[in-house]
Formats: sequence, C-alpha cells, structure tokens
Amino acid sequence: MNLEDLKREAAARALTLVKDGMRLGLGTGSTAKHFVDLLGERVAREGLRVICVPTSEATRKQAEGLGIPLTTLDETPELDITVDGTDEVDAKLRLIKGGGGAHLREKIVALASKRMIVIADETKDVETLGKFKLPIEVIPFGLEATKRAVEAAIAAAGCSGGLAIRMKDGAPVRTDSGNPILDADLGRIPDPEGLADRLDRVTGVVEHGLFIGICSAAILATKDGIKVVGSLD
Ligand code: 5RP
Repeated sequence: MNLEDLKREAAARALTLVKDGMRLGLGTGSTAKHFVDLLGERVAREGLRVICVPTSEATRKQAEGLGIPLTTLDETPELDITVDGTDEVDAKLRLIKGGGGAHLREKIVALASKRMIVIADETKDVETLGKFKLPIEVIPFGLEATKRAVEAAIAAAGCSGGLAIRMKDGAPVRTDSGNPILDADLGRIPDPEGLADRLDRVTGVVEHGLFIGICSAAILATKDGIKVVGSLD
C-alpha cells in the first residue's frame, strides 16, 4: 500500500462514523480530501443527508463540486464531528496542524464540534511533536515586531530554532484570511502546552498550529492495519 492508499483507508474508517442527519466539519489537505471524496460518493449514491462546514476555500470548492450540502458556523454553530488531517499527532492526541495554512479555520471548526477525529497515515504518528515546522499565522501589520515576540515566546517555552515567513513563488503565502504564516523549525517541543500558552498571549499572533485538548481520536492507517488512538464512541 502506498501513502495515498493509507490516507484513503483512514478516511474510509472515519466515514463509518457518519450517520444520516449529521452536521460535519470538513478538514483541509490531501487526507481530508479523500474523506470529502468518499462522503460525496455516499451523498450521491445513498442520498445520505449531511450538512457540512468546510475549513478552507479549497475544501469548499471540492465539496461544492461533489454536491455535498454546505453551511456556515453562523447558520450552524454546533457540529457533530469534524474529520481532518494532521501534520503530526502524539500519543496524547496533541497535534501540529497548518501545513496547508488552514489551521485557523480548522481550529474554529474543530472547537465548534462535539468530536474532532483526525485521519492520517502512519508517518504522522510521532513520539514528540516538533519535527514538522510549527505554523503560526500572524497579522501583517507589525510583522517584524511580532516575529521577535514569537521568538521570545519560543525561547521562554524552552524551544529553539529558526522562524521563517512561509513563501511561495517568491512571495509570502497568504491564508484564506489574508494573513502571512511564520514557520517555526523547532525540532522538538518538550512542553507543547507551555508553548501553546505563550503563543496564545503574543499580540499579533492570529493562531498557531498546536491543537491541544481538541482532538478526540486519531485514525492512523499503517501497513499492518488501522490503529486508533483515543475513543471513536
Ligand atoms: C492544513 C492541515 C492539514 O490537515 C495537514 O497539513 C495535513 O495535510 P495532508 O493530509 O495533506 O498531509 O493542517 O492546514
């Protein structure tokens, strides 16, 4: 099985949790894309009735194309399940997300959901968070000053490493909300709660990619089968 097969396996397992009439959050990224594809098939084939909030413009376009009924958190502020991918997950269900730059909307949607289920291939399963660069979305105004404040917060949380503005085609990447992203190359994060807390308190930081106490369960597809961390009930 290649990586795409594993991602689809995890997505298929998550789909078994979806019941008629549910309100869903739809994640962003290549793994979440498989889930949206499979959900679209059930909507078209079985007439499954769901109403969904996408976490990015990319996911919104995909879901629209598949005929999946969409809503917003303004119309539907409470959701049953959000299914999303992740860049890293540890045994305590702490995550690094935001590789696709969608972590702000992903966190808002996950927090509006009774359950957040993460789907991933086994490469995302880590002992210690931090190998994946931590995305930190910031307001464009005062970027250099905010960058310094973020560096200080990172040092105070016992981490070290470079901080770079995410670029694409020679220009800073902008999120769906129009903000740049700082990627923190930390190697390992010994105290994710402490770092999250310090980043939460930096003025100018919109949202960081540490998801702590948010994810209910992870469905991890391995070459030996599905591994579930947490409870799917
Ligand atoms: C986007 C995300 C994605 O869920 C994360 O980057 C995983 O993506 P993929 O499934 O493509 O590896 O957080 O902001």
